[in-house]
Amino acid sequence: MSAVMENILTRRSCRSYSAKQLSEEQLGLILKAGLWAPSGMNRQPWQFTVVQSPENLARLDKTVLKSMGAQERGSFFYHAPTLVMVSAPEDVFTAAADCALALGNMMLEAHELGAASCWIHGVTRTRDDREVRELLTELGVPPEHAVLGSLALGFADGPYKEVPRKDVVVLRK
Ligand SMILES: Cc1cc2nc3c(=O)[nH]c(=O)nc-3n(C[C@H](O)[C@H](O)[C@H](O)COP(=O)(O)O)c2cc1C
Repeated sequence: MSAVMENILTRRSCRSYSAKQLSEEQLGLILKAGLWAPSGMNRQPWQFTVVQSPENLARLDKTVLKSMGAQERGSFFYHAPTLVMVSAPEDVFTAAADCALALGNMMLEAHELGAASCWIHGVTRTRDDREVRELLTELGVPPEHAVLGSLALGFADGPYKEVPRKDVVVLRK
């Protein structure tokens, strides 16, 4: 099996993180993998906003959970020590696909480095909430950008859940 295939097949979403932070080098490689994703007409419409300060992570958690009416949930990104928000102008018609590919690349590179990740949809889901939007702007997300996906990053604290796949391939020969 190729190293790429092995990486794809063994990556899993992590929902329990230790407090250990990524090194600057690891974070740099993960972001680089995102930046090298393909994008429609090579527009690269995205911005990656990295949040690591415990204070800002806690503010984001509180604001997004409040908007979701889910304050009883401990953390919408499982207390991961890093959250990368991927945003782009929504009027770029390939933006959602572009951002998804960037996130996919980042997940695979994180896995390659022995780190853990999980796509987090909470910020995207609540992006029209006024308080969420104000906080995103304060954290550096451009006002004309929508957060189209986010990535929790860190190191796994415990084993991963097995996740089966459906066989939905149609072969016409
Ligand atoms: C668009 C998208 C949104 C997702 N949103 C969340 C989320 O908000 N929280 C979460 O725990 N997992 C989220 N996930 C992760 C999926 O649940 C996960 O990829 C799926 O169950 C397959 O498991 P695996 O990644 O371990 O293979 C999301 C994945 C995608 C692609």
